[in-house]
This record gives sequence, C-alpha cells and structure tokens, in this order.
Amino acid sequence: MKTPALLIIFLILIPILLSSCLGTSSSSSTDCASTSNSYSSIQTNILTPKCISCHSTFSTYAGLTAGSSYVVSGNSAQSGLYTVTNSGQMPRGGSKLCATDIAAIKGWIDDKAPNN
Ligand code: HEC
Repeated sequence: MKTPALLIIFLILIPILLSSCLGTSSSSSTDCASTSNSYSSIQTNILTPKCISCHSTFSTYAGLTAGSSYVVSGNSAQSGLYTVTNSGQMPRGGSKLCATDIAAIKGWIDDKAPNN
C-alpha cells in the first residue's frame, strides 16, 4: 500500500524540482543592457551595477581612464576593461556580460574612449 503512494509523490516532485531549476537559470542569463558605445551608457549599464562594488575607481571617468591599463585609448586589445570582460574573467562571481555589452566596451575604447 505504501510503495505506490511514495512512487506517485516522487513522480510529481521530480518535474517540479526540475522546472524550478530551469526557471532560475534562464531568468538570470538574459541581462543585456547597454547598446551604445558611449561612456555614459557603459557607466550606467555595466560599471555601476556590475563592477563598482569591487572596483571603486571605476566610479569616475578619471579613475577608469587616467594612467591605468584598464583603458588604453584606441586600443581595446590592450585594455583590461575589454580583455577581462570578453574572456569572462570579470565580473567576478557574476555571469559573463552579453555580446552587445562587450561590443559597446570595445567600440567605445576603439573610438578613443571619449568622455561622452
Ligand atoms: C566580486 C568582486 C569583483 C567584481 C564584481 C568585479 N571585479 Fe574585477 N577584479 C576583482 C579582483 C579581486 C581583481 C584582482 C585581480 C585578479 O584577481 O584578477 C580584479 C581585477 C580586474 C581587472 C584587472 C585584471 C588584470 O589582469 O589586470 C580588471 C580590468 C577588472 N577587474 C575589471 C572588472 C570589470 C569591468 C568588472 C565589471 C564588469 C569587474 N571587474 C567586476 C574583483 C571584482
């Protein structure tokens, strides 16, 4: 008598558990905000929400660009801001930035990283 009842409970629980896992992973993966290659867009959509908690220097244009290897004007390949986001190394502990956001960072640096 007991065995079929337990079996039915398991059969009901397994799909519920599976769907709750799938639900959480899909809701956090489409987190794409920045589409324009401007400093203000990158600051608002990427740096402030995803980086500043660990990198307080990224909160100002000067802190991000002056005398650092984070941004090498006109050369995204030499810029840490681009290389570590493109590789997925940053944001640490978070999911990789989406392709549009990475392209915005690359485009802005290759446009000589203006304060716009
Ligand atoms: C949870 C904390 C944390 C977050 C969030 C974070 N970082 Fe970092 N980041 C670190 C630490 C710690 C280092 C020190 C160097 C290392 O271990 O790679 C680092 C190093 C870096 C470096 C230098 C890497 C090198 O090889 O010189 C860059 C560039 C960088 N982070 C960019 C970013 C960007 C851009 C974001 C947001 C998209 C971000 N980080 C989010 C913790 C963080």
